Amino acid sequence: MQELFVEGGRRLCGELTIQGSKNGVLPVLAATIVCAGECRIENCPRLSDVDASVAILRHLGCHTQWEGNALLVDTRQMDRAEVPDALMREMRSSVIFLGAILARQGEAALSYPGGCELGPRPIDMHLAALRALGAEIDERGGTLRCRADVLTAAEIVLPLPSVGATENAILAACGAEGTSVIYNAAREPELAELQAFLNAMGAEVRGAGSSVITVAGKRQLHGGTHRVGADRIVEATYLCAAAACGGDIRFKGVDYRQLSTVTAALEEAGCAVTSEGEQISLRSAGVLRAIRPVRTAPYPGFPTDAQPALMAALLCSTGSTVFVENIFENRYRHADELARMGAEIRVAGRVAVVSGVKALHGAAVKSTDLRGGAALVLAGLQAEGETCVSQLEHIDRGYEDVARDLSALGAQIERREKDR
Ligand code: EPZ
Repeated sequence: MQELFVEGGRRLCGELTIQGSKNGVLPVLAATIVCAGECRIENCPRLSDVDASVAILRHLGCHTQWEGNALLVDTRQMDRAEVPDALMREMRSSVIFLGAILARQGEAALSYPGGCELGPRPIDMHLAALRALGAEIDERGGTLRCRADVLTAAEIVLPLPSVGATENAILAACGAEGTSVIYNAAREPELAELQAFLNAMGAEVRGAGSSVITVAGKRQLHGGTHRVGADRIVEATYLCAAAACGGDIRFKGVDYRQLSTVTAALEEAGCAVTSEGEQISLRSAGVLRAIRPVRTAPYPGFPTDAQPALMAALLCSTGSTVFVENIFENRYRHADELARMGAEIRVAGRVAVVSGVKALHGAAVKSTDLRGGAALVLAGLQAEGETCVSQLEHIDRGYEDVARDLSALGAQIERREKDR
C-alpha cells in the first residue's frame, strides 16, 4: 500500500498548470449519455472518480478510450438503464447518472450513491425534481426504480441550491417535452461547464451561474466536444500550501474569479495575491495571521471543499480563527489527525476554532476523506520532521498526483510503498 512521505520546512516556488476539474468533469461524463453519439472530453483529469464514471458508462454499453488527457466516449451502443450497487457505491456523483439515464431511456434503476462521509447526504431533492418532471420512483429495497413514459417540463423549486440536484434536474429536463425552469439552482462554476457541454451537443440550457436555469427539452442531441476547466479546489489547495509554507507561485490556465473568497481569506492572512488573464500568483512570507470567521456557503460563498485546506494553512498562524461549516454536518474529521501533529483545534458541532501553534511535528496520519486528506499533506509541508499520510484512496479521488504537483513547486514529498 502506497503512502505519502512529506518532509516539512520548504518554501514553495514556481509555476504549475492546474489539472482538470473533478466536479466539472463528472456531470459532463454523465451527460454524454443524453445523446447517442461520439463525445470528446479534453483536459479530463486522471482520477479514481473518473475511472468510476468510466466503469458506469461501460456497464451501460458505451465505449470509452483515452487519447492523452482526452477521454472519448461513444454512447451509440448504450443498451442498459440500470447501474449495479457496487458501481454506485464508488462515489457520490454516480447519482447524477439517474437523470441522464431517465432522459435517454425513459427508465432507470440505481441504488443509493456512495462518496465521502461528510455526514448525512440525502438525495430527496434529486428525487423531488425528477418526480416534478413526471417520473414515477419506487424506492423500496434500497433500489431506486424510476420510470417515465413521457417526461414533461416543469417548474422546479429547490429548497436549497444543491449542486447535484440541480445537475440531475438539468439532465432529466433535457429529455422532457417543453421548457423546464429550475429555481434556487446551484450557481457553482461546474453548472456552467455542464451547460456549455450540453449546448455543444445541441441542447438549449440557459442561466447557469444564476439561480434560475431554463432547459428547453426534447431537442435532437448529437455528440460534442468539451474542454474541462481547471479544478478550482485543487487550485485553492495549492494556494493554501504556498501561503502556509511561504513562497512565490503562479498557476496557469485558471479562472481566478472562481476563488475570490479563498484569495480574500489568504490576503487577510497576509499573502499578496495578483491575478491577470488566466493566471494567478501568490507570494507569502510563510507567517500568517488569524482571520475573521470563515463561514462555508453555496457559491459564490466560501467553498466547503476549501475549508480543510485553509484550516491547515492557519495551524501556525498568529491568533485564532473560527470556522463555521454550513454545508455538511461532519466535515472536521481531519481535525483529530491534525492534532496528532500538534495542531490546536476545538470542534463543537459545525464550529471549529483553530488556535495557531508555534510549530507542528511530523506524524503518521490517516486521510479521512478527499479534502481532509489534502489538508494533512499541507500540514506535513509545514511540520518539523517527516509526516506519513496513509489511506491515499481518498486523495486519489480528486488529486491527479499531489506529490508530482507539490514537488514541482519545491516540496520534499514522495509517494512510495510503506515498507521501504
Ligand atoms: C457537490 O456535492 C460536490 N461534489 C462536493 O464536493 C461539494 O462539497 C458540494 O457540491 C457542495 O459544494 C461534486 O460536485 C461531485 P450538494 P453534492 O447537493 O452535489 C444537502 C469534493 O470534495 N442535500 O450541493 O453532493 C446535502 O446533504 C466534494 O469534491 C440534501 O439535503 O452537494 C448538503 O448538506 C465533497 N438533499 C447540501 O445539501 C439533497 O437531495 C449541499 O449538497 C441534496 C443535497
